[in-house]
Amino acid sequence: MKKLGLHQLRKMFLEFFQEKGHLAAKSFPLVPKDDKSLLLINAGMAPLKPYFSGAKEPPRKRMTTCQKCVRTGDIDNVGKTDRHATFFEMLGNFSFGDYFKIEAIRWAWEFMTERMEVSKEDLWVSVYKDDEEAYKIWNEQIGVPSKRIVKLGKEDNFWELETGPCGPCSEIYIDRGEEYTCGSPTCKPGCECDRYVEVWNLVFTQFEKDDRGNYTPLPNPNIDTGMGLERLAAVMNGADNIFEIEPISTILNEVEKLSGVKYGESKKDDMSIRVITDHLRAITFLVSDGVIPSNEGRGYVLRRLIRRASRHGKLLGIKDNFLYNMVKLVIDNWKEEYQELEEREVQISKIIKIEEEKFEETIDQGLNILKEYIKELTDKKLDKLDGIKAFKLYDTYGFPLDLTKEILEEEGLSIDESAFNEEMEKQRDRARKARGDSDDNGWKIEENLSSIIGTETYFKGYDKLSLETETLMIIKENEVSEELKEGEEGIIILKETPFYGESGGQIGDHGIVYNNCGKGIVKDTKKISDDKILHFVVMKNGKIGNNEKVVASVDNKKRYSIARNHSATHLLHKALKEVIGEHVNQAGSLVTDERLRFDFTHFQGLEIKEIEQIEKIVNDKIFESLEVLVLEKTLEEAKEMGATALFDEKYGDKVRTIKIGDFSMELCGGTHVNNTSEIGMFKILSESGIASGIRRIEAITGYKVYEYINDMENKALQLAELLKTNRENIVSRAKTLNQENKTLEKEIERLKMKLASSKTQDIIDSAYEVKGIKVIANRVDGMDINGLRQLGDQIKDKMGSVLIVLGTGKDNKVNFIATATQDLVKQGIHCGNIVREVAKVTHGGGGGRPNMAQAGGKDSSKIDEALSKVKGLVNNQLKI
Ligand code: ALA
Repeated sequence: MKKLGLHQLRKMFLEFFQEKGHLAAKSFPLVPKDDKSLLLINAGMAPLKPYFSGAKEPPRKRMTTCQKCVRTGDIDNVGKTDRHATFFEMLGNFSFGDYFKIEAIRWAWEFMTERMEVSKEDLWVSVYKDDEEAYKIWNEQIGVPSKRIVKLGKEDNFWELETGPCGPCSEIYIDRGEEYTCGSPTCKPGCECDRYVEVWNLVFTQFEKDDRGNYTPLPNPNIDTGMGLERLAAVMNGADNIFEIEPISTILNEVEKLSGVKYGESKKDDMSIRVITDHLRAITFLVSDGVIPSNEGRGYVLRRLIRRASRHGKLLGIKDNFLYNMVKLVIDNWKEEYQELEEREVQISKIIKIEEEKFEETIDQGLNILKEYIKELTDKKLDKLDGIKAFKLYDTYGFPLDLTKEILEEEGLSIDESAFNEEMEKQRDRARKARGDSDDNGWKIEENLSSIIGTETYFKGYDKLSLETETLMIIKENEVSEELKEGEEGIIILKETPFYGESGGQIGDHGIVYNNCGKGIVKDTKKISDDKILHFVVMKNGKIGNNEKVVASVDNKKRYSIARNHSATHLLHKALKEVIGEHVNQAGSLVTDERLRFDFTHFQGLEIKEIEQIEKIVNDKIFESLEVLVLEKTLEEAKEMGATALFDEKYGDKVRTIKIGDFSMELCGGTHVNNTSEIGMFKILSESGIASGIRRIEAITGYKVYEYINDMENKALQLAELLKTNRENIVSRAKTLNQENKTLEKEIERLKMKLASSKTQDIIDSAYEVKGIKVIANRVDGMDINGLRQLGDQIKDKMGSVLIVLGTGKDNKVNFIATATQDLVKQGIHCGNIVREVAKVTHGGGGGRPNMAQAGGKDSSKIDEALSKVKGLVNNQLKI
């Protein structure tokens, strides 16, 4: 067997199949394109599905790739064993209706025995139990003895994803030798032990599986093979597992270094080291392909991986955030094959750093709460954590479900997942409601109308804003109707229309439809399915009937404002990519005549200077008067030219591409200006976060900017008037006023202090003597009990020896305090007794210690009378 590193093996495989007439393609990104059935690419064939199904023509009928893959089905197991990995590279050769079983098997054998130099005796194969053809090829043509061919069932030897091309398969195993066996007499390929390692899966793709589970034979049978690069490297190098092979071991060694923990010494630590080593590759590659952490979909997978790795770092005793630094190691070791890693190095590290920091902020709090939950469970002898509690950890402290699960598992506990999912669903519902998904206008279009509209409208509104046409159908109160009369509302469908129906974020046109008999106001236009355009009309006068000639005329001022905002949205999209990075993708947009709203993926708020830069670029492009061209292209042509296609738009064969100078090119069905100078000017009004990982910019153009400037100017004028200065000096005047304000505040503080101390002095001056001790009994209004106490303390400090009784009150609420210095207490003074007696006069009561007491009362008119009692009470106390 040859000892070869990952990179050499990859190269040898691709070269081998190139020699066999295959086109070697670069790995596709991990984020699937136009495939909603898959979150992340998880096999070499996944991005090639359209070639297998015949939906698209492949560039060549034979292809070979080394594909980046992420499998997240068993995240919990990654790390536990040394077999599982989330990220791996899959080598594969593919035939799209070209060669079939014989060649696939023969070449796989040739590669293993001649290029990899694996001894024939060490190779075993498995075939699908009913696939006689494959069995015969292995046995009769290749010469594998029947004792080394294993027949297995659908579970092992039928390969399929959720949907798409699939078929029976045949697998190649390497026998690592007697010493790895579990010892069972039935130990052979398929056995769970370490002796037979499955390296290569040859799928004879014969069926297409739909989302209902039906299998339809494909017109041409195909070949799809897959071989895990890391696993192959491990076996070839006689390593026990993928963590021992270069350069994966380099990452592992770095984790050892950072944590000071040696691999192989403790089962628990080994798991943590493996988790980090594996997840680090996955997260680096995911971010380099444009995934950013969020609470949904693939963003959530990324978040789970980062947070899981981060937590295992903490378990190993790594103090600081570390993943974002380690990213460099992955980049340096894989960048030759995957240049995108190097191109996005700074961003990868930044995005991961921010996520680590976010997690850091809440993890300790969350862990403490989880510890309490665990304690509660163990105390109550329960073994399942309430789903609502797990959801709280997820929602408030960012604990991915699997992290909570994992921590619980370590304590032998589990989670009520269905309750967790229910909570999650409720939250999604709330989010949906908050977004306002319900249809406006009160029409349940899809439900009520799609069946009765057999009509298509030709949209002519790219070139024409007014045209003569015919009414094809009128709908009133959800029923087909003959006519619309004055004051009535309904939907009119026209044969041709200049009205743009709301779609792709651009609002529908407004305008009028009229003929000799009547006139209706089009207050909205919607597009349902591809060619049905609905005009929502309120009849102003007369009537319009079915199959009548009408003129349809768009409010062109409004339309023109919409066009300005739409073209500006394209400029903004491109400017965002230039300023903050290629990972920015449109997540939604709204283009109206008043303003534009653009939602995009980004992991943090923009800085002021970034916003300024973006705004400047857009305005520069406006002032450069760039031509806006509309090109009709095939989707492939458009993409090749570098057009930005949005992920969830559906395009026909010919796509409409909007090209703005050499600056921007986007697939788009909306209406635009002819030249950027028509936009006039562009102003960003706000930038904010609307969901995790999604930001929103709101902006205005054209006339609205003019209004905005006027408004600002007006405010500045009003301000100048208020500040008694002219516009030019408002800032310096405001600064001076601020300064003056501060000086005045200080002065007020000083005076307050003075006032307070003179009040204190007045009270001190009111002291009288009873048998040689100083007594103060005074009413101080406008204070609460705390104020009284503080005042009492101040006076005590100043006088050194004194008994103070203070009263305060308003209407039927009275408070007293009494306090005495210690020397007087020794002479027999008891504040509690004094204050109780005093309070009685005001119909109240209270008491306390000899040196400090307080009481309340109900009649504030009696405070003075009450305080006059003090003298006698003191006298009495001193007698004793
Ligand atoms: N598509 C097959 C697999 O992933 C080759 O195993």
